[in-house]
Amino acid sequence: MARRKKIYEGKAKILYEGPEPGTIVQYFKDDATAFNAEKRDVIDGKGVLNNRLSEFFMTGLNNVGIPTHFIRRLNMREQLVRSCEIIPLEVVVRNVAAGSLAKRLGLEEGSALPRPIVEYYYKDDKLGDPLVTEEHIAAFGWASQQDMDDILSLALRVNDFLSGVMIAVGIRLVDFKIEIGRVFDGDFQRLIVADEISPDSCRLWDAETGQKLDKDVFRRDLGDLADAYTEVARRLGVMPKNAAPITKPTLIN
Ligand code: TMP
Repeated sequence: MARRKKIYEGKAKILYEGPEPGTIVQYFKDDATAFNAEKRDVIDGKGVLNNRLSEFFMTGLNNVGIPTHFIRRLNMREQLVRSCEIIPLEVVVRNVAAGSLAKRLGLEEGSALPRPIVEYYYKDDKLGDPLVTEEHIAAFGWASQQDMDDILSLALRVNDFLSGVMIAVGIRLVDFKIEIGRVFDGDFQRLIVADEISPDSCRLWDAETGQKLDKDVFRRDLGDLADAYTEVARRLGVMPKNAAPITKPTLIN
């Protein structure tokens, strides 16, 4: 098959022109980066796992009426998604203090927050994705007030859905990041969940032991990242039970 036209290459994914107008092929790479790509490695099998996991979460969201860009998985590393205009914000929802919030406010990692906290970061790698307020978003026109109302509602609905799915398999959803896209249906503009939802963009802790099952394993050198993601996939039933391990046999049980 002729190679498709590359539209964009990011740190963890490549976007290609899709087979029909308004579609994009999203290819998941094995590259792992952290701290704005200061730390990087290639983790065999990560792209395959994230493709499957993002398919699982996005399909679940679509099924409960939360619109996403996901159309269908094409193969081990690629999925077909709806083309959309990405709002230049990283929308973070937090249930438990961790990461940059714990650092910024001097909170103990692991302390439950009084309610979910939604934060916005301006998507700009050169600036290291700085935290911004709704004042900045409105003043610079990155999103309208109506968009912000819709984004908040989407973010909290995604949090409810993902928290429930995760706790059912013994995983605590500490926080996560989503990206939001704009699509036009005729004259109507709608916002949908875009990009990916995977252990690259969530904090997932074992509910019993607190063991980290997300990209912090890589950021903080806590062990084998593919093992952690395989464990998440196994618990969710995303990988067939008897499937050959992607890298090596997982040690977690
Ligand atoms: P933080 O605590 O480092 O701000 O991260 C909050 C959440 O956002 C966490 O689940 C990881 C995710 N995240 C990304 O998906 N991409 C990023 O570039 C960063 C910094 C965090």
